[in-house]
Amino acid sequence: MDRILIRGGHRLAGRLPISGAKNAALTLMPCALLTDEPLTLRNLPRLADVDSFGHLLNQLGASTAIEGTRPEDFGRVMTIRAGKLTSSEAPYDIVRKMRASILVLGPLIGRCGEARVSLPGGCAIGNRPIDLHLKALEAIGAELETTAGYVRASAPGGRLSGGRYRFPVVSVGATENVVMAAVTARGGSVIENAAREPEIVDLCRLLVAMGAAIDGIGTETLTIEGRDRLHGATYAVMPDRIEAGSYACAAAITGGTLELAGARAADMRATLDALVEAGVTVEELADGVRVSADGPLRPITLSTAPFPGFATDMQAQFMAMLLRAEGASVLTETIFENRYMHVPELARMGADVQVSGRTAVVRGGAALAGAPVMATDLRASMSLILAGLAAAGETSVSRVYHLDRGYERLEEKLQAVGADIERVGDG
Ligand code: UD1
Repeated sequence: MDRILIRGGHRLAGRLPISGAKNAALTLMPCALLTDEPLTLRNLPRLADVDSFGHLLNQLGASTAIEGTRPEDFGRVMTIRAGKLTSSEAPYDIVRKMRASILVLGPLIGRCGEARVSLPGGCAIGNRPIDLHLKALEAIGAELETTAGYVRASAPGGRLSGGRYRFPVVSVGATENVVMAAVTARGGSVIENAAREPEIVDLCRLLVAMGAAIDGIGTETLTIEGRDRLHGATYAVMPDRIEAGSYACAAAITGGTLELAGARAADMRATLDALVEAGVTVEELADGVRVSADGPLRPITLSTAPFPGFATDMQAQFMAMLLRAEGASVLTETIFENRYMHVPELARMGADVQVSGRTAVVRGGAALAGAPVMATDLRASMSLILAGLAAAGETSVSRVYHLDRGYERLEEKLQAVGADIERVGDG
């Protein structure tokens, strides 16, 4: 299995291109199931999760063609054709590997009037139930039956009625699923306390480009008028705000300067505000964000929250960065119950972090030393990379497949801005 080796202590400087957003890609791709016309997605990141989602669409009978990009380019163009579907089932083997597979549930009921999707089970960062996905779909007319680890959803008469649902807790994935199901319902739907993440805005914009009628995009109330049919479209995936935020932390932890080319400041306001509070300089450019850190960092207090709050997907990277701040920072994780798996690994590099329940106290300022560490989930892996960039000596991060799920060509991008980082095989 591959590992990533980092020899730390190099200040990063230069221009680093930001890829298309993984979490947007994974909700835009299933929209192809809603039409028999082709959907072309541009700026799709080259990531293991995107490939896996492509395979899932293939299993359902859709074709996926990658066009017009050279291997050296970042991003890809993919045309998905779901002229005729041959299956409406997402099997356990795929859902188990990639939770986002449950995002075919909504579009499949919309298109086929039925779907059978494996229950995903827990994952490294928490229980992550899908009860809200199911309740929201039920509220717009789906009939559900759960047996033998699968949920079978159907629309009476082949088409959902539409309806009203208020989420008791904000859920990104459940909002995505119900919106994708509601756009082709017979009647209208009102979704209250909807997630407002930029990826949801991206999803709604694509659906509108396909002929859907959605009001209130970017707010917590989405009003949807069902359409008889949607058509094809060509659409560019939004830039990855979490990738951009992660590399902003890389500039900060190494005392460097990075121009995050293509990053959209408006999508990552809470991250940028927290960076400024920690003493990092942030400049908004015409097409990107420049982040630099030349003085010492300051400790801060942060709590994760749904958008526009501070993203849970940035918590691990901030923890690593705050190991360079002089003093104690306090992080509180409110979204997932088990999202401090990086702490024991960071401790192996000399980090002083005390976790109590959902709160972590990060005492920064101590020197970090390179060590062999193990990635546990996607964002946790990035926190280990960041710590490695700042640590003295060599850090070896194993279980790199977590990183490959969400960071396009990580080592290439970091090498280009001065990091001493390489991927090595174990064999
Ligand atoms: C998405 C993102 C993930 C991010 C998360 C929160 C994708 C592919 N993944 O995950 O990177 O960390 O948003 O910003 O876009 N919940 C329930 N029942 C449900 C659904 C969710 O209780 O049916 C709970 C979850 O356990 C969690 C909270 O709601 O505590 C938020 O989860 P949710 O927003 O749904 O996250 P995901 O869509 O899974």
